[in-house]
Parts: sequence; C-alpha cells; structure tokens
Amino acid sequence: MGKDVIIACDFDSKQKVLDFLDLFTDKKPFVKIGMELFYSAGPEIVSEIKKRGHKIFLDLKLCDIPNTVKKSMSVLAELGVDMCNVHAFGTKAMMEAAIEGLTKEGKQRPLLIAVTQLTSTSEERMQSDLLINEKLEDVVMHYAKNAADSGLDGVVCSPLEASLVKDKCGKEFLTVTPGIRFADGDVGDQVRITTPAKAKEIGSDYIVVGRPITAAEDPVAAYNRCVAEFVG
Ligand code: C5P
Repeated sequence: MGKDVIIACDFDSKQKVLDFLDLFTDKKPFVKIGMELFYSAGPEIVSEIKKRGHKIFLDLKLCDIPNTVKKSMSVLAELGVDMCNVHAFGTKAMMEAAIEGLTKEGKQRPLLIAVTQLTSTSEERMQSDLLINEKLEDVVMHYAKNAADSGLDGVVCSPLEASLVKDKCGKEFLTVTPGIRFADGDVGDQVRITTPAKAKEIGSDYIVVGRPITAAEDPVAAYNRCVAEFVG
C-alpha cells in the first residue's frame, strides 16, 4: 500500500470539480468526493471522474442498520470507488456487514475506512450530548480497534493520532489523515494540524488535503509540493 496524497474536492457542482481536475494534465491525483458533491452531482460523478483516470475516496460516512449498510455498500462497490467509509459508531456488526456488501467475487474490494469520533466533537460534547463518559482519546482508540477487529482497512484520524492507532491496531492498519497545512500556509478553521512532511514522519498512509490545494493560486504546484513532502 503506497503512501499518497488525496485531494478533498469540496466543490458544489460537477462543472467546478471537472474544471479543477482539468488542471492536472500529468499525474491524475487520488481525489475525495464528499457528501456535498455527491448529493449535488449524483452517483454519475464517480464514474465520470474515474474515467479520467483518478482513484476515488467516496466520503459518505455511512451509519445505519447492518442490512441497509451492506446493501448500500454493494451499490458503492459497483460504482468503482477505491476507498469508502462508515462510522465506527454503527458497531462491529454494521462494519462487518459493510465489508460483506463491498466484497464481490473476482473483483478487488474497495478499501473500507472507519470514522471514529469526528474531530468536530469535543470531549465535553461527547460526554454531555452522547453520554460517553470516557476520555476522547480512549474512545477513538477503542473504535479504531473495533474497526480493525471487524476487518476494516483503517481509520480516518488526526495525523497526531496516527502513531497511537498503529500501536493499537498494527502497522498495516491504514491511517487516513486530514488537517494538513503547509508550514507557511493559512490554517483556516482546522485546529489540530500538521504539515505533509510531519505527517510522513508520524506514519500517516494517506493525507487528505483540501483548501491548501484547491484554493491555491497554482493548485498543481501545491499538489506537487504535497507529494514531494509526503511521498518524497
Ligand atoms: O480544506 P481542508 O484541507 O481543511 O479539507 C479537509 C477535508 O477533510 C475536508 O473535506 C473535511 O471535511 C475532511 N475531514 C476533516 N476532518 C475530519 C474528517 C474529514 O477535515 N476529521
């Protein structure tokens, strides 16, 4: 499993994302399609981008009863995505069902990654709103272990948690990490951030980078800089 930079294509229309991807005439980057683009452009956006030679991480964060998740994952596998995700909160039974739905005979199964606790959830909120009276870090590690035990390939986590996740779940267990900023760049609304070079040092497998590339004056140069720092 090679390290790679995934561009978060947080655009609200098909035209905007295709115009953006047209800039990449050489290497076709791995891209993340989130809910906004998927719901506005429809499932065809996946095949459209795939046809252009990109790998796709479809970030829909499924969480429902196991049977519904299994059937939905079966549909996503047919779309040809390379990576997709669920909330670990849905339990091990749901994650196992997700794997079943994604597995097709004679076809490579897309990678399945779990979201542990969203980085927008503070420990205080988790305790008061969700009545989970544990330390946030312990919950994240427990959910990561549940994901590993259910046969998932990895978790989305803060780069600062990546090495702890590897200690707990094994070094083959993938860490997909957003919250990436260049040392000399804008932080924006992200809080727990690190640079591509530091993410490499910590042991992230994939970094997810949005605005430092999509809002850059020269997105291709920004992407190449990420690749140079992270992949080397
Ligand atoms: O623009 P920026 O680099 O902050 O984009 C990061 C991407 O990663 C966004 O698509 C955001 O929704 C996603 N993400 C995140 N933190 C998480 C999970 C996903 O920033 N914990």
